[in-house]
Amino acid sequence: MWLLPSFRAALAWVLLSLVLATELSLQESLLLKSLGLSAKPSPKAPIPVPSVLWRIFQKRRTQPAANQAPGDGCRVEEFNVPGNIIRVFGDRGHFLHEEQPQGLLCLQKLLYFNLSVLEQDERLTMAQLEVRFSRSSYQPSSQGQPFELRLYQSSQLALQGMPSPGHRRKLLLEQSFAQLHKSLLFNLSAVVKDWRTLGRNLGLVLEISASGSEEPAAPASRGLQSPCGSITSFLDASLLVVTLSPQHCKASRSKRSAQRPPVAPSALCKPRRLYISFSDVGWENWIIAPQGYLANYCLGQCPFPLTAELNSTNHAILQTMVHSLDPEGTPQPCCVPVRLSPISILYYDNSDNVVLRHYEDMVVDECGCR
Ligand SMILES: *[C@@H]1O[C@H](CO)[C@@H](O)[C@H](O)[C@H]1NC(C)=O
Ligand SMILES: *[C@@H]1O[C@H](CO)[C@@H](O)[C@H](O)[C@H]1NC(C)=O
Ligand SMILES: *[C@@H]1O[C@H](CO)[C@@H](O)[C@H](O)[C@H]1NC(C)=O
Repeated sequence: MWLLPSFRAALAWVLLSLVLATELSLQESLLLKSLGLSAKPSPKAPIPVPSVLWRIFQKRRTQPAANQAPGDGCRVEEFNVPGNIIRVFGDRGHFLHEEQPQGLLCLQKLLYFNLSVLEQDERLTMAQLEVRFSRSSYQPSSQGQPFELRLYQSSQLALQGMPSPGHRRKLLLEQSFAQLHKSLLFNLSAVVKDWRTLGRNLGLVLEISASGSEEPAAPASRGLQSPCGSITSFLDASLLVVTLSPQHCKASRSKRSAQRPPVAPSALCKPRRLYISFSDVGWENWIIAPQGYLANYCLGQCPFPLTAELNSTNHAILQTMVHSLDPEGTPQPCCVPVRLSPISILYYDNSDNVVLRHYEDMVVDECGCR
C-alpha cells in the first residue's frame, strides 16, 4: 500500500470513531433500557409539565435523602399511595361531532389515554383524571348557569364523526360545575385498572352540557350568546397514573449517612466527585429535570492491613493478607460502592407523556473494599 501517511492516519481516526460510536450507542441503549425506555425519546409535541409533578420533584430534591424514612421512594406522600413512577398521559381522543353541537349539549369528546407503556409487573395504585378549560375560555355561561359534566365508559369503539346515541356506554359519573378556571379531578382508579386487560381500553366519552330549561327560541335571535359560551373553545384532559415497579423499589433501605466521608489519604479507597450532566450525554431534550446530578464513583487502594474506614468484609481482609504474601498471584480487593442513594428524574417518555420516576442506587455515598 502506498497511501500517504496523513491519509492513513485520517482513515484510522475515522475507523476508531466509528468503533467508539457503536460502543457508545450500545451502552446508551443498555442504560435507557435500565431506565425503562425502549429508545431515546425525542419529544415532538411535549405537553407542559403539570404543576403537581414539579411540586413533588422539588420537594424530593430539597428534602435530603438522610431525612427520609426507609422505603420513602416507594410511596407518593402527596397522594398517600404506594408508587415510584408517576406518569401524566395526554389525551389522544377526538371530538365526536363534526359541527358545533346543537342545543344544550356543548361538547362531546372521546378521551383516550394510551397506557401501553405500563409494564406487566407495575402495580397501578392510583389514576386521576383532570379536566381543565384553557384560560381564554374563562367566561361564565351567558345565563350564569352551571354546566353539567357526564363521563361515560365506552364499551364500543367510538368513531370520529359518529353521533352519540349509537354508542353503547355506561355512565360513570355526573357533576355540575360553574367555574371554568378550576380544574376538575376525578378518581378513576377502578376504571383504569380494568384498562390494563388487553382490548379493554376503549376510552371514555365526556359530555358537557349547559344546564337550564330548553328554550325553543334561538338565543342568537335575541342577541344573546349561546348557552355554552366559549366552553368548547378549549378543553384539556390528562390522566395521572401512579404505579409501583418492584424492580426499582427496595422494601427497606439503609439510611444515607448524613456526614461526608472522613478525609483519608487520597490514595485510599473512597468516593470521588463525578458530576453527570445530561446535556453532555445528549439527553437534555427529553430529561426535563434535573439537568445533571452528582453521581460520584469509587477509586483507591485497599492495602494491608484494611482499616475499619474501608468498610471491608472478612473476605476482603483475608484477601489483602494473601495479597501481601503473594502480590503476583492474588489481587487486592476492589474498591466498590457499598452505599448508594436514589434520585428522581422528570422526563418525557417515547409517547410525549410526562413521567416522574424514582430511581434507586443512582448516587455513590460510600465505598468499601470488597
Ligand atoms: C399505543 O402506543 C403504542 C406505542 O407506545 C402504539 O404502538 C400503539 O399503537 C398505541 N395504541 C393506540 C390505540 O394508539
Ligand atoms: C379512589 O377509588 C378507589 C377505588 O375505587 C379507592 O380505593 C381510593 O381510596 C379512592 N381514592 C381517593 C383518593 O379517594
Ligand atoms: C465506611 O462507612 C462509614 C460509615 O458506615 C463511612 O463514614 C465511611 O465513609 C465509609 N468508608 C468509605 C471508604 O466510604
